Amino acid sequence: MPANPPDSLPFNPVPRLDVSHLTRAFGGRPVVEDVSLAVAPGQVTCLLGPSGCGKSTTLRMIAGVERADAGTVQIDGRLVEGPGVHLPPEQRSVGLMFQDFALFPHLTVAENVGFGLRVDRAEKARRVGELLEKVDLSGFGPKHPHQLSGGEQQRVALARALAPKPRVMLMDEPFSGLDNRLRDGIRDRTLELLKEEGAGVLLVTHEPDEAMRMADEIALMRAGRIVQRGAPYNVYNAPVDKAAAAFFSDVNVIRGVSRGALTETPFGAFLTPGHADGGEVEIVIRPQHLRIDFDRGGRGPNPTPEEGVPARGTVLRSRYLGRESLVDFAMDFEGAKLTASVPGVFLPKPGTVLWLMIRRDRCFVFGV
Ligand SMILES: Nc1ncnc2c1ncn2[C@@H]1O[C@H](COP(=O)(O)OP(=O)(O)OP(=O)(O)O)[C@@H](O)[C@H]1O
Ligand SMILES: [Mg+2]
Repeated sequence: MPANPPDSLPFNPVPRLDVSHLTRAFGGRPVVEDVSLAVAPGQVTCLLGPSGCGKSTTLRMIAGVERADAGTVQIDGRLVEGPGVHLPPEQRSVGLMFQDFALFPHLTVAENVGFGLRVDRAEKARRVGELLEKVDLSGFGPKHPHQLSGGEQQRVALARALAPKPRVMLMDEPFSGLDNRLRDGIRDRTLELLKEEGAGVLLVTHEPDEAMRMADEIALMRAGRIVQRGAPYNVYNAPVDKAAAAFFSDVNVIRGVSRGALTETPFGAFLTPGHADGGEVEIVIRPQHLRIDFDRGGRGPNPTPEEGVPARGTVLRSRYLGRESLVDFAMDFEGAKLTASVPGVFLPKPGTVLWLMIRRDRCFVFGV
């Protein structure tokens, strides 16, 4: 092991949240299996995965509203869940924010925010005022929830969750009830606030875009297990398998057979070391990593090795999606079908002959 691994920090603080081998079954069916993750102060970890994979159950065990069958949860170095230990939620120093962030309808905004605060009146008023200012709702204190927009209610819920200065914020799809136009702004503002407060944040979402936008670290979950953990850049650009790649965008898959550590594709032979001779491999490419170039009377482009390896194809269909255009191709090589994404408007007619280039370092190669 190197003396100084690149991710080692000079000062390694105790994680706000440290989850180790957390496991839970319902009626004999495992729902969360051996989940481990850690969240540092001021850091956001996104637990990302498809519906039903066990995200909320994991969060509920950390919050203390569900018991773990095995494993431990530590908050600021204190064991709150483990063999023979099950602290109630209110003793864990966790803030909770769920999708339906239900405010108490009969209480005012200020009373909602101050609800969980066990301090004297003057201190409560000070903290409530401070938080309402932080969520840009100064002056909203005397109003009732029904007088607020959805976005405003969401900010009150955030202020309420942050009021007791939790060490860990647990958020379960907290933005999914908001309309699209509001969402990005509220996400960014929420993130700033959480960082200011220094809590460790575990945010559950099934939306890759949200995780990419919010997370310092993504924990990708599938069927009860964490299959990959890493910075958004790494999880996106070095997925552990085809499903992990496909969770973040549509993907092109070229199937081939590895012979002598080489696999033939429309883009020439790929090095596929480590794959058995005669073993099937899949080469996975995101549509935005395919570059389109012109036919030039059949000569095609003449790229540098860095730019990629060209292959010829015929346009099957073009679609304009707003930010990008998607162009489907049938390649000359064995009729392989590939989709390329181009920023902006690019709508070649079906039948047009064009060339595609891929950067090999952008392709992922997996055994089948
Ligand atoms: N109390 C329970 N009793 C029995 N089964 C449960 C219970 N809670 C959850 N499950 C099951 O456990 C699995 C995981 O549920 P969970 O709510 O953790 O998924 P999720 O990843 O949060 O999904 P979503 O993205 O849809 O919210 C599901 O199949 C669910 O039906
Ligand atoms: Mg859920």
